[in-house]
Amino acid sequence: MSTAAITRDPGAVSGSAGADLVLSGITKRFGDFTAVDNLDLLIPSGSFFALLGPSGCGKTTTLRMVAGLEAPTSGTLSIGGRDITGTAPHQRPVNTVFQNYALFPHMSVLDNVAFGLKRRKVRDAEAQARAALDLVELGHLGARRPAQLSGGQQQRVALARAVVNRPAVLLLDEPLGALDMKLRRQMQVELKKIQTEVGLTFVHVTHDQEEAMTMADTVAVMNNGCVEQMGPPQELYELPRTAFVANFLGKSNLMQARVTGGAGEYLELDIAGNTVALRRDRATDHSGQVLVGIRPEKLRMEPASAGPGIRGVVLDVSFTGASTEYLVDAEGIGTVGVFAQNHGGTLFADGDRVQLAWDPEHAFGLRGDEDSRAGATEGDS
Ligand SMILES: Nc1ncnc2c1ncn2[C@@H]1O[C@H](COP(=O)(O)OP(=O)(O)OP(=O)(O)O)[C@@H](O)[C@H]1O
Ligand SMILES: [Mg+2]
Repeated sequence: MSTAAITRDPGAVSGSAGADLVLSGITKRFGDFTAVDNLDLLIPSGSFFALLGPSGCGKTTTLRMVAGLEAPTSGTLSIGGRDITGTAPHQRPVNTVFQNYALFPHMSVLDNVAFGLKRRKVRDAEAQARAALDLVELGHLGARRPAQLSGGQQQRVALARAVVNRPAVLLLDEPLGALDMKLRRQMQVELKKIQTEVGLTFVHVTHDQEEAMTMADTVAVMNNGCVEQMGPPQELYELPRTAFVANFLGKSNLMQARVTGGAGEYLELDIAGNTVALRRDRATDHSGQVLVGIRPEKLRMEPASAGPGIRGVVLDVSFTGASTEYLVDAEGIGTVGVFAQNHGGTLFADGDRVQLAWDPEHAFGLRGDEDSRAGATEGDS
């Protein structure tokens, strides 16, 4: 691979190799509306960081402040320890790829990529642009005009054009938004590969939870201008700390429960007359009313028997091929979702009486006064 020419080197123009991006107490108000609320973020150099959240939660506003296109109402920004809060956009070691990546229609693909370098009078602009096009596997299409490329190919040109400038930080605002699902999935894999090869810091904004989880090392889940939770995708999925995160990132069953006892590692809970164990270190609250969360694929469903378990009746069955998704009316609890892998076990039908159980290692506990539906509809895209 001829990536050498665009790999970051310590003497790069930006001078900020090894540069962490830090947002400290960043707030943005538009009139009396707070779009971004006292945000603290540390984005390590070389990481693939995703800002995930529903429409209007402040993702683009945050990116625009990093890019210098919007001034924070308060707070500071720095890259590699250098304060850039008041620095003009073009003087920041940052490049942005927007959802509507406008390529210059009258220029060849290669000239589009070389444009920024030529303007800065970089000597081997064309060779670097070729290397960047090779990186996105479009080296053979450099002579074409943007209109002669597919949407996904144009997207890759926009990416090459941003990467070639060797920014310390590359900001991506829903860059795959215009692509159809299949191309989108394909580009997700390629984008991740490019980021690993080039080693730049990517800050990727998306409202697609699957996209954030498959691509990022770290995901920050944003809601109403604040980060609700931040961490590696698997950690966020396995141990959400708020109802919003539990529902926005995948699906969760959130059930009202009361702490009735428990010493040591496990709390003892009552859920609609059933006694259930919950690991203390997986619960935000250790007394009173709580919400117990369990992912649909972590529930075990068996035909009703005399043994322990939450009783219910199957309300709906959707066979999806690899798995079957059930809705169960659970006694005293309400509707519960169950996903079962299809490896030849029992299939249930509407009206079947069943029993639900789970391994306490998989459940998580949230504050009892949280809205159990927070973030639920937004995540269902
Ligand atoms: N220039 C502006 N003036 C007033 N309000 C604004 C302005 N820009 C953004 N907002 C508001 O700030 C909030 C956050 O907007 P932002 O564009 O950051 O959302 P987003 O998370 O990027 O959403 P989406 O996923 O829809 O792109 C929204 O409620 C929006 O209406
Ligand atoms: Mg946006």
